[in-house]
Amino acid sequence: MCGIVGYIGTEQAAPILLDGLEKLEYRGYDSAGIAVFDGENIQMKKSIGRLKVLSELTHDGATMPGIAGIGHTRWATHGAPSDVNAHPHFNGDASIAVVHNGIIENYGKLKKKLMSKGCEFRSETDTEVVAHLLDYYYKGDPLAAIAHVMHHVEGSYALGILFQDHPGEIYAVRKDSPLIVGKGKTGSLIASDVPAILKYTRTVYFIENEEIVRLTADSLNFYNIDEEEIEKEPTTIEWDISAAEKGGYEHFMLKEMYEQPKAVTDTLNPRIRGNQILIEELGMTDEEIRSVKKIFIVACGSAYHTGVTAKYVIEGLARIPVEVELASEFRYRNPILSEGTLVVIVSQSGETADSLAALREAKAAGVRTLGIVNVVGSSIAREADNVIYTWAGPEIAVATTKAYSTQLIAEYLLALKFARVRGQITEDELADYIRDLKRLPQQIELLLNNKTKIQRFANRYLAARDVFFIGRGVDYAISLEGSLKLKEISYIHSEAYAAGELKHGTISLIEEGTLVAAVLTQEELYKKTMSNMVEVKSRGAFLLAVTNTDNVEAEKIADYVIYIPKTNPYFTNSLAVIPLQLFAYYVSIGRGCDVDKPRNLAKSVTVE
Ligand code: F6R
Repeated sequence: MCGIVGYIGTEQAAPILLDGLEKLEYRGYDSAGIAVFDGENIQMKKSIGRLKVLSELTHDGATMPGIAGIGHTRWATHGAPSDVNAHPHFNGDASIAVVHNGIIENYGKLKKKLMSKGCEFRSETDTEVVAHLLDYYYKGDPLAAIAHVMHHVEGSYALGILFQDHPGEIYAVRKDSPLIVGKGKTGSLIASDVPAILKYTRTVYFIENEEIVRLTADSLNFYNIDEEEIEKEPTTIEWDISAAEKGGYEHFMLKEMYEQPKAVTDTLNPRIRGNQILIEELGMTDEEIRSVKKIFIVACGSAYHTGVTAKYVIEGLARIPVEVELASEFRYRNPILSEGTLVVIVSQSGETADSLAALREAKAAGVRTLGIVNVVGSSIAREADNVIYTWAGPEIAVATTKAYSTQLIAEYLLALKFARVRGQITEDELADYIRDLKRLPQQIELLLNNKTKIQRFANRYLAARDVFFIGRGVDYAISLEGSLKLKEISYIHSEAYAAGELKHGTISLIEEGTLVAAVLTQEELYKKTMSNMVEVKSRGAFLLAVTNTDNVEAEKIADYVIYIPKTNPYFTNSLAVIPLQLFAYYVSIGRGCDVDKPRNLAKSVTVE
């Protein structure tokens, strides 16, 4: 999604803005722009396409002198990607410049009003409305103008603002779209995400909803919407910038896949003491755990897929009914949230608009909420009653891999904790589960090291038109993820089906040579899935099987078999996902796709 950077200090702003925007490229964008105050006027340059174009246009920032500026990478929502729709946007006389993440929902009404007052609009964006509205309310005091605008706009926004009349200041403000500020050695900075400014400072302030920041070269002042000054506590970012760089790998996705053994270990180990599971962050007493009557797992995309796995695991182990729901559905359907309901929101970014809205729905209904979140200090992490962090570190590739794997771990831990407290499993059984969990990092590593076999297979399927993923139980859950991974980065159409559902319609799509990837990791379901494999094979499908090492029978039916090491049946998704990730990755690069930044996608979907 869009990225914001701002700088005011003693150095030239433009190169710092371009550098920061580059660090945010992973979020996905279609155009970019910067505005810099040159001592007299605000100068602006923007362009559709990659940041490289903007860098060339400005000679790496050299043609835009000035020590205060704002920059933006845009992911189009209102108005097609174009030079004119790219941010920043000016008011009428170019004395106010604005960059914006989010969506102004009532922009149509505001635009009409502003046009009736004589404003002329250059772009089709909702953001330009903000620039004109600021102008409309501006009477010499930027803070008052910003607060006024905040009272009139509806929707979500993180804004960086320059006022020509106030050359020694830049402003930042947010509602429902992430924004941080920090102070570096040579000046103050704004960013929509940590990597953009980590080179300059580790001490950042997370801006809360309806807070305004005035930044000067050597000060940060925070205000609420009533323009009263407020105090804020800084947060120290623990991870290093190298964690957000490729470190010798060809792509972030490959690097992040290889980081999975460590990410899984880091998420697992601090919560295991001997043969006990300790999740202090859960904030629930045993009594409270025993009183849970129902769990909702709410999330989007891959995070939702981990929830589908978790439903099987939590219901199987802890015997608590679990409903898994897409956040975009949950938030609008008035779900029944009665006493004893626990709502678990799963999110890598902690900023996904639908997941955040779902969390707020649950809180408004008065039920207990728990976030499983990767980004420390993100909105979901801060707003949920409790949060279990997945210690995956920064995930840059748009397609999630290591965050997915750590979400599974957090959910297994939750299932086991609940199961033990509620007396559904014995101490000895828990010890066995823990032993299997602890083996996962090594087993994942083994699978990663086997990548050439998958690469060879992937190279044969670069021209595939349709791919189907099938499985039963948790194998169905992993099929959903395998299919999403493939389609999002290779642009090959693919679908996942519960294997038993094929003959209710989908099987008619199978033709000579259609690739069907069957996942069979559940011993008691081998035979069932194998008969579905026979069904598709007899209709011409080419069959890839992902199965356990002991299921050599699969070779009799499948054309190609990938084996995963044996683990507890509840945890097989942590292993089966690895070949599916590698397959998607190699198909994507074989087809020449932009694997880390697939078209039309954004890393963090902060708009609805
Ligand atoms: C797919 C992918 C997305 C995210 C989804 C939720 O590879 O990454 O489907 O899982 O957009 O994002 P978070 O977890 O940040 O809420």
